[in-house]
Amino acid sequence: MKYQSQAVAKLYFTAAIALFVAQILFGLIMGLQYVVGDFLFPEIPFNVARMVHTNTLIVWLLFGFMGASYYLVPEEAERELYAPWLAVAMFWIFLVAAGLTVAGYLLVPYAGLAKLTGNDILPTMGREFLEQPTITKLGIVVVALAFLFNISMTVLKGRKTVVNLVLIIGLLGLAVLFLFSFYNPTNLVLDKFYWWWVVHLWVEGVWELILGSILAFVLIKVTGVDREVIEKWLYVIIAMTLITGIVGTGHHYFWIGTPEYWQWWGSIFSALEPIPFFMMTVFAFNMINKRRRNHPNKAAVLWALGTAVMAFLGAGVWGFLHTLSPINYYTHGTQITAAHGHLAFYGAYVLINLTMISYAMPLMNGREANSNRSQVLEMWSFWLMTVSMVFIVLFLTAAGILQVFLQRVSEHPQPFMVVQEKIALFYWMREVAGVVFLAGLVVYIVSFFIAAKDAKAPAVVQRETTAPSPA
Ligand code: HEM
Ligand code: HEM
Ligand SMILES: [Fe+2]
Repeated sequence: MKYQSQAVAKLYFTAAIALFVAQILFGLIMGLQYVVGDFLFPEIPFNVARMVHTNTLIVWLLFGFMGASYYLVPEEAERELYAPWLAVAMFWIFLVAAGLTVAGYLLVPYAGLAKLTGNDILPTMGREFLEQPTITKLGIVVVALAFLFNISMTVLKGRKTVVNLVLIIGLLGLAVLFLFSFYNPTNLVLDKFYWWWVVHLWVEGVWELILGSILAFVLIKVTGVDREVIEKWLYVIIAMTLITGIVGTGHHYFWIGTPEYWQWWGSIFSALEPIPFFMMTVFAFNMINKRRRNHPNKAAVLWALGTAVMAFLGAGVWGFLHTLSPINYYTHGTQITAAHGHLAFYGAYVLINLTMISYAMPLMNGREANSNRSQVLEMWSFWLMTVSMVFIVLFLTAAGILQVFLQRVSEHPQPFMVVQEKIALFYWMREVAGVVFLAGLVVYIVSFFIAAKDAKAPAVVQRETTAPSPA
């Protein structure tokens, strides 16, 4: 670690991982409720567990992005963070707000929570992913503003790099688009139209810039490849992201009452969205092949390559699967959607966060890489989580294909619940894979404690290699 203030990232990463655990526990609860309908009813109804699962996901990813920025921006800008105390203060505010919100979901009926938090004054609640009470949303805006101010000032007063610039544009976009969560028109078409400006334009727009810049940063560090080469890739990737992703929003406008031209615009542009994801895969492998040094943190390299591959599979391939309007006509809102949602979020945004944490945590603990034993465990956790997520997605995809056929395509379409009973076996298998995922997460957390135990051992010495490419 070059600058003291980078260490605030540690707080953010720790909170992110704690919320990650909560997210998975609630996923498992819901997975069981899929097959044992009254499990934990009435204590934790499905809709509440779902809110907690998706909201903790989003919030821990945001903690991760902020932690990554606080680590990366000072190093790129070659100066201390503008106001480290502000980063620490915002951390606690955000953590308390997130904790209170989850407690509110679990302890107060949702309508009561809405009343309690003044939703009637400025109604923003009640929409998927944006369930947070209005005051929580306001808190998010305050934290985001303070965060943006802090990192922008750091960059303005320091060295300007492409990585920092792309990151800041992504983060700024994230904050600005979130403002649409305050727009809650009574017209359902309008409501859905702008709801996607948060949900879609985040994950298939500005978050991709954040993803690209963090990946580029880690690749610069672990490969030693010239920054100029990596920057050129980054430019092309983000250009393709925006060219395809913005109009690609139309793949959510097929059936919500928008004009018919969206069938074409949405299909064509979103069908091109896999391109930037594929470029990220090629980019990552290319850089590793061209590497000028063997970084001792092998685990970080694995996470980075994993991100590049899994993001392409989850977003690119599983997204493309149902993005053309004649196909989406049948698959809309089925388990196919859930399969894609899981692999895309995991592959792109869970993995990029874990990549950054893997790279930065040892450095914040004063060593370039963790001990061998710790890295082996970390790599085990990568494979356990990644393979079990692939199985979760394959089971959901199988369930989805059967669901689409039995419920929507066959000559005698059957009712929703009848079909759900018929595909229950896949939900059981999803749950088993989910337990393995949790095991992988536990192994991941254990690897940190092994790292701490072996900290007294000398840090692994970095080797310079002369042969840049293995083949
Ligand atoms: C990392 C990037 C991505 C993430 C995190 C992501 C995540 C999601 C999630 C969570 C949903 C469900 C939204 C809901 O609740 O209704 C969804 C829907 C959808 N996604 Fe993605 N996605 C990504 C990229 C893509 C890409 C690149 C494509 C196209 C190639 C795509 C195509 C779709 C389509 C067509 C739907 C609507 C499904 C339906 O009609 O039910 N996604 N995505
Ligand atoms: C890092 C891992 C995970 C990520 C990124 C993730 C992400 C998501 C997302 C984005 C949704 C909303 C999907 C949509 O609206 O289409 C969701 C819903 C859900 N997740 Fe996960 N999840 C993860 C792990 C798990 C695990 C381990 C389980 C349980 C085995 C699980 C069970 C569920 C269930 C049952 C739903 C509700 C689906 C529905 O409404 O029908 N998730 N998850
Ligand atoms: Fe989308």
